[in-house]
Amino acid sequence: MSAASLFNLPEGHYFLSHSVGCLPKKAETSLAENFLTPWKMSGGDAWPIWLDTVDAFCASLGQLLHGQASDFCPQSNLSSGFTKWLMSLPETQSIKTATKRKILIHQTAFPSMGFVCNAMQKMGFELVFIPASEPVSNKETWEQAINKDVFCVLATHVHSNTGTVAPIEHIAMLCDKYNSYFAVDIAQSAGILPINLTSWNADAVFGSCVKWLCGGPGAGFMWVNPQTTEMLSPIDVGWFSHQNPFEMDINHFQYAQDAKRFWGGTPNVAPFALAKGSVETLLEIGQQNIFAHNRRLANELLINIEDCLQASIDLENNGGTLCIELPDANINMLESELQRQHCYFDVRGNVMRFSFHIYNTLPQIELLTEAIRTSATR
Ligand SMILES: Cc1ncc(COP(=O)(O)O)c(C=O)c1O
Repeated sequence: MSAASLFNLPEGHYFLSHSVGCLPKKAETSLAENFLTPWKMSGGDAWPIWLDTVDAFCASLGQLLHGQASDFCPQSNLSSGFTKWLMSLPETQSIKTATKRKILIHQTAFPSMGFVCNAMQKMGFELVFIPASEPVSNKETWEQAINKDVFCVLATHVHSNTGTVAPIEHIAMLCDKYNSYFAVDIAQSAGILPINLTSWNADAVFGSCVKWLCGGPGAGFMWVNPQTTEMLSPIDVGWFSHQNPFEMDINHFQYAQDAKRFWGGTPNVAPFALAKGSVETLLEIGQQNIFAHNRRLANELLINIEDCLQASIDLENNGGTLCIELPDANINMLESELQRQHCYFDVRGNVMRFSFHIYNTLPQIELLTEAIRTSATR
């Protein structure tokens, strides 16, 4: 059985996994078996099954990203997890009077994360953008920007509009040197690039399942470095942040010992019941196989269209998406041709974005090659 047959694929040619990954068949089954059926059969008695399902989701994620299940906490999206984490840091409440109060983020990071940093200025943080002209993949960019006044760095593992990869291990080393907190956004890398959270040793990592993890919107998550958990005091809490959610004593609150202290009130279950099946599908296929397949297809396309590109793409420093810059004059024509051939893709200015997951094929690369080459010669 081919890996592609494990997914429901829309008609046509799907290159949009950087936006929404395709629905695995096992994810549909998992939603039914672990969420809907227990609810139908036993109403509120479904809770133990639902909670075990969320635990199983965290365990699969841990397997894929090389972390412990207990260091993950479900969230609805990245920005809310990032806000909760920043608010939980011991220094945050007195940050207004601190000298070390800068939050550093690259100008080309995803706006949602930038909005969080901006809003944090209300707490007294100072937002510093690394200019867009400084390449995110260059170690020097980060060496020049990180210093003793930087309280926290937010790095984006893979940038959504360029596909560029940031040197995470190097940034982690710099943050360690200057005693700065280090948070990483893995929205565009989880599920496509091999990730080892334990060896990264960041302070916190934020992701969601909507893109390459093929788990749909709603199944966000955060990973908290277990060496830091104990000192974190989330403000946004609820009974599922409690060490014993069922203690039910309004006068006694004790944080969960693990990352679940960030969980809050009555948890969402459906998105995680679905995404559990998605992450399990990727584990069955194997992260290395998915990555190798992406590289094979991306490399093939790049070799075939090298002379049509405005700027070359270095696959060594690239995530799963090829962000192809083309002359304005060619974009409209290429867009119409690809739409005619039922291709799913998107355009940002004069950059066209194409993503290759395990369900994409070499014939699709030939189709793209032909269309791009034809538009370039007109
Ligand atoms: C790099 C990156 N970060 C974050 C997000 C989303 O953030 P949030 O989950 O807060 O909507 C996206 C995409 O949609 C993204 O591409």
